[in-house]
Order: sequence, then C-alpha cells, then structure tokens
Amino acid sequence: MAQPSPFYITTPIYYVNARPHLGHAYTTITADVIRRFHQMKGAKTFFLTGTDEHGDKIVRAAQKEKKTPREYVDEISGQFKALWPELNIQYDRFIRTTDMAHMKVVQEILQKIYDAGDIYFSEYEGLYCFGCERFYTERELVDEKCPDHEVAPEKIKESNYFFRMGRYQDWLIDHIGKNPDFIRPERYKNEVLGFLREPLEDLCISRPKSRLQWGISLPFDDNYVTYVWFDALLNYVSALNYPDGEDYTTFWPHAQHIIAKDILKPHGIYWPTMLKAAGIPVYQHLNVHGYWNVSDSKMSKSLGNVADPLNLKNVYGLDAFRYFLMREMSFGLDAGFSEDGLIQRINADLANDLGNLFSRVIAMTQKYFKGKAPGGAAEPSMDLGIRAEAGKAIEAFEAEMEKFAFQRALAAVWELISFMNKAIDLAAPWELAKKKDQQPQLASVMAQFLAGLRVISGLIYPAMPQTAEEMQRHLGLEDDGFYLLDRLKAWEVIPEGTQIPKVIALFPRIETKPEQAEEQADENPKTKPFKAQITLDDLEKIDLRVATVIGAEAVPKARKLLKLTVDLGSETRTIVAGIAEKYAPDELVGKQVVVVANLKPAKLMGVLSQGMLLAAVDEKGTSVVILDRRANSGTALR
Ligand code: ME8
Repeated sequence: MAQPSPFYITTPIYYVNARPHLGHAYTTITADVIRRFHQMKGAKTFFLTGTDEHGDKIVRAAQKEKKTPREYVDEISGQFKALWPELNIQYDRFIRTTDMAHMKVVQEILQKIYDAGDIYFSEYEGLYCFGCERFYTERELVDEKCPDHEVAPEKIKESNYFFRMGRYQDWLIDHIGKNPDFIRPERYKNEVLGFLREPLEDLCISRPKSRLQWGISLPFDDNYVTYVWFDALLNYVSALNYPDGEDYTTFWPHAQHIIAKDILKPHGIYWPTMLKAAGIPVYQHLNVHGYWNVSDSKMSKSLGNVADPLNLKNVYGLDAFRYFLMREMSFGLDAGFSEDGLIQRINADLANDLGNLFSRVIAMTQKYFKGKAPGGAAEPSMDLGIRAEAGKAIEAFEAEMEKFAFQRALAAVWELISFMNKAIDLAAPWELAKKKDQQPQLASVMAQFLAGLRVISGLIYPAMPQTAEEMQRHLGLEDDGFYLLDRLKAWEVIPEGTQIPKVIALFPRIETKPEQAEEQADENPKTKPFKAQITLDDLEKIDLRVATVIGAEAVPKARKLLKLTVDLGSETRTIVAGIAEKYAPDELVGKQVVVVANLKPAKLMGVLSQGMLLAAVDEKGTSVVILDRRANSGTALR
C-alpha cells in the first residue's frame, strides 16, 4: 500500500484581545478531528495553532487592563494554550507572533519581497478613523462615517510601505480557475472571485512607529512596524522553520488552512499573493466554515450559572460536546448552538443509537458467552450484511472527511449503527440462545456484532477519541492502532476468547429538569405534565404514553414477569409486566411500547411497578403493542 501524503493543518492564530470562546474551540476541534482522520490513513501529520499578538487592538486591550502589552499577551495566550488539552486537542506546535524565530522569518520574507521590487514607499492620503487606527475607503463607510465609531474619519496624509498586490491579481484568478477546490466550499471560492472582479489595490503593510510600536520592525526601515496581517499570515511557514527546516520541506507542500468566513479576504487574497511574491508555493486548500450563533437567553434560562457554552463540556461530557459541534454544523454554513440541541443529540444519537447498540451487544456477550468473545467461525447462512454495510460506511466516511464534510461523515457512521440495531432485532440472538443446536449460529451473529462495533469505534475516533478508546477497552483490545483505516477495512473479528468486560453506559440519557418540562409544555406535547392518578375503571382518564424500553430483566422467582426500565421523555420508570413467557428481555430493549402512565403504582413480587404496558392477550399468549415507527418518548396517544 502506498504511503499516504503527509498532512499539514492550521487554525487561525487567535487574537489575544478576547478570551477563548466557542468559535475558537470549534475551529480548533475541527483541526484536531481532521488531523486524527489523516492519522487513521497512516499519514505523517502536523497540526499548528497559536496566537496573534501584535497590533494596536492588542495594545488597547492591554491598556484597558492596566498591563503592559507583554504581560497581557502572555496571560491571554496562556489561556488559549491551557484550554486546548482540556478539549483533547493534540497540536504539534503552538506559535506566538511574539516568538523571536517567527519575527526573524517575517523580516527575512519582507526583505526578500522588498529586494524583488514588490514593496514600495509612497505617500498616502486617506480617510483615517482614530478610534480604529486605520484607513477606510469611501465604500466601507456608512453615511460617510466609520461603521464602528459612527464618526466621520479625517483626511490625513501619511507615508507608508505598500505591497504590490495588484500585480498578482490575474495570476490568482488563473490559479483559482485551475484549482477549483483551492478555496472550499464553493460559496467562498465564489466570494473571493467576487472580490477579484474589482481591481485589486496594493496593500499598505506598515505602520509608523510614531503611532504604534508593538510590532515587528521593517528590516529596511526602522521607523515602521509591520502591518499585523502581513506578520500573522507568515506564521504558517515560520512555524515549520522556513526556509530550511525539515518540517517545512515535509509539510508545506501539503498545507491546508481552516478559518471561518470572517477572515476570508486576508487568507483568500493577501496570503496567496504574498506567497507568490516571496517565491513560496501556495497552500493546497483553504477550508472555510460558517459562524456559530449562540442564543444567550436560552443558555442562561436552562443553565442558570453556566453562561459560557464552553462550560457545557463539563456538564455533558467532552465527547458529547465534540460530537455535537461536528454533527450539528454543516461545514461552510452557519449553525445555532443551544443547550437543548445538545441534549437532543445526546439522547437520540449517543444514548439511544450508539449507547444502546453497544450495551446490547456487550450484555448479550456476557450472557450467552460468559463475557468471552465467541469464535468468528464463518457460518455463511448467518451473514447479517454487517460487513458489507460497514464497508459502505467506511467508504462514505472517508470520502466525506476528505472534503471536510464532517456532518455527512458522521451521518454515514450512524447509518451503520441503525443498520446494526435493526440486525439485532432480525437475528434475534435470544431465540438462537434458546436452542441447543443453534450455538454456531449464535456465535456467528455475535461475532459479527462485535466486529461491527470495532469498526464503529474506529470511525468515531476523530470526533470522539475518548469514547472510541472506551469501546476498544470493552472489546478487549488494548491496541493503539485500532483506528487505522486499512485495519477497519480488513474487517478483523475480535479474537475468540477475548475477555469482554461488563457493560457500561457510554452515554447516560440526560433527564431534563421538571421545571423545564413545564415551561415547554405548550410547545412540546412529549413533556406535557402527567394527568392525575386513576383506577382502571376510569377508562376515560387513561393517560397513554409512548415509552422507550431502555432496560429489561427477569424478576427473580417470577416465571411470568419482566421488569422493564422505560424512558418517558421527562422521566425514567420501572414497569413490571407479565410477558416473560413470550418475550426475552433483550428482545424488548430499544423497542417503543405504550404504557398507561397514570395508573396507581403497585408492587408485583416486591417490585414497584409505575405504570402498565399495553398488550393483547389471547389464547396464544401475550402480544405487546409496539410502535411501527419511532416517536418521541413520552408522546401522548390520542
Ligand atoms: O481573526 N463561529 O483572530 P480571531 C465560528 N488573529 N468560528 C468563530 C466564531 C464563531 N462565532 N468566532 C470566531 C483573527 N471564530 C486573526 C487571525 S490568522 C493568520 C490571523 C473563529 O481571534 C474562526 O476560526 O478574531 C475565526 O476565523 C477565528 O475564530 C477568528 O479569530
């Protein structure tokens, strides 16, 4: 197999004038996810992040906190650096634009471009906003005023250095034409081509020291510092020890950047033209995502004291948080962040689909094979199609990940999860377990379920590394190469006899608080408060609800009874039902049944039953009422 190409991924280097927030976390998690994907391919990878620390914005932020720029940048940069490990982000290098080595590279490249004649000195007269400390073009003004400060800018004359960006306009249009996915998704390529329809003005790349000292001195004129974007963009090469470093040689030809739409112009226009002028090959891809919109009011309503979405990782778990970000945002478009949305994803995708599948398979392995993986002895008659389905999921996952379509990559994995959940119902291992002569078949189906779980654990690795590792431990595989795509494609069964530890809940369901249920009652019938208790005579008053069975076990010494744990949307209940003669416990887990929710609780064989299951009882036995398609747990029946 050919060695996959090396992979170099960068995030923007964040300004230290604000503390890290959800938006920064999203971009950096995305970089971590895509880098782990390339590790799955067996590639050599390099992941760069860092902080952007020069310029007047930073000086003003430091002044506000009564600190020197140096003290201030050290503090905030430290906060970014400390956050990434908390989000399980494993970068290779954290660069700061105040690093000496970076400053040296910026000066070298400026000198190179200056010597080549692409930087010139000129007097400039323009409209200057003292609040923003920058020039505005007429087109950028709103009612002839600065849009931020709402004051008319003043006409001032200043001598500065300019980069002949306009020279590279045709080259850039041509490059984008020849490399259609240079900037992706397409909408952002079109936006850049839109900018390029207007003549490209030269870029002012200096600031006089009389106005600003906090920056990198121009190597050819000590009276000026470098414009912050010209300094910052060069971090992507200086971090690799441009021009002679081994990392530069290995990784620069494979560079990909991730940014949000706010900084498209500097990355889509300034940066490639700067590279071209410096004689450095341009990057491979610019990957541009949309914005997260956080609804503050909702946040504080349900969270009380947790106002920062980043803190939700402590409330709901890091992997659930990472999964939500990757699954909820369609890369390139904006998305809304809400705690309710996060809870829904946890309950539906993680607790119900993935968590249930995992615990069902592990619990059955415990029960039928005493916690030891059964031999995968091929039993062709029992092929459940999981291997074929896993092959399709891997292929789709790989293709979507290559395109940064994280949402679709995860959707492909969840299709496999649903397929396996259905395959369990179809194969009905509990039936096979009842028959002595069906043991090879039982072993074969269980081996397929375990092998399928192994594939799933590999495919969720980039988004949910801790969960992937947890699943691996439960599949008895202490092996750090488990996520390699080639191995997933090879469909390795779990070796016979491997010890499978007892089941754990990967993602416990999140119960929403009762006050919340009440608040939402009007919009959401699923959480309508339960009616008052009734007796069986008062048929009219029966409160019938959809319940999802999340656990089932036999009641000791009661041949006919099963004890079910059911999810009613706003709460979990125990229901004892006389169905054990017709139903094996595992058969019901994951099914949706109908319960009388307001029946007075009663003890049956010492177990308190908080409701009654609807079932038809005829001379052949009991048939439980099961929904033929999924509804929200707790939905009232009409
Ligand atoms: O622009 N949703 O730094 P910055 C999604 N220093 N992502 C968001 C976001 C949101 N609501 N808000 C911010 C700078 N981001 C420069 C970059 S690079 C050479 C210099 C993320 O601190 C997103 O990645 O303003 C965006 O591009 C970046 O933070 C801007 O970070």
